[in-house]
Amino acid sequence: MIGVLVSGTGTNLQALIEAKLPVRAVASNKQSAPALARIRDLPTASFELRDFESREQRDAAMGEWLLAQGVEVVVLAGYMHILTPGFLALFPQRVLNVHPSLLPGFPGAHAVADQLAAGVREAGATVHVVDEGVDSGPILLQERVPVLPGDTEDSLHARIKEVEHRLLPLAVEEFLCAR
Ligand code: GRF
Repeated sequence: MIGVLVSGTGTNLQALIEAKLPVRAVASNKQSAPALARIRDLPTASFELRDFESREQRDAAMGEWLLAQGVEVVVLAGYMHILTPGFLALFPQRVLNVHPSLLPGFPGAHAVADQLAAGVREAGATVHVVDEGVDSGPILLQERVPVLPGDTEDSLHARIKEVEHRLLPLAVEEFLCAR
């Protein structure tokens, strides 16, 4: 059973659901995340940092909620906060992330802009297992995406997301089958 964490628009969440993967619950750090509004028939919850005394306590509450929903594997689909070691310990080696670059190149929250600024000819998408670093951890699948003349952050990100929507469900499916 999969729990998905989201902060943004949720197109990768949608791709996981359309691929008929066993998504059981969706949580966010932002109550207003458009991704949550996509969900009609699954348990959802938001865990805003301001409602907790610390990030550790927020992540503990979110992790306990996911466990209570029967979640075994957590997928970060555009989740923009770093998870605490305490959260990762609840799902050891069972948290996956999708990132819009060819990791280990261009980690962090501004990967698309950083790739454009660096003038790379090839950007990419990566799905990896999450460890305690920032966008580090063992890589499961990776695919190159061309950077075209005149690309903006939006146009390049849209091209990367098309790949992510294929790569993320595939990586999750393979990960579940291998368990
Ligand atoms: C994706 O590009 C993902 O790689 C990054 O955040 C974006 C999320 O997009 N971590 P969406 O919310 O799935 O549309």
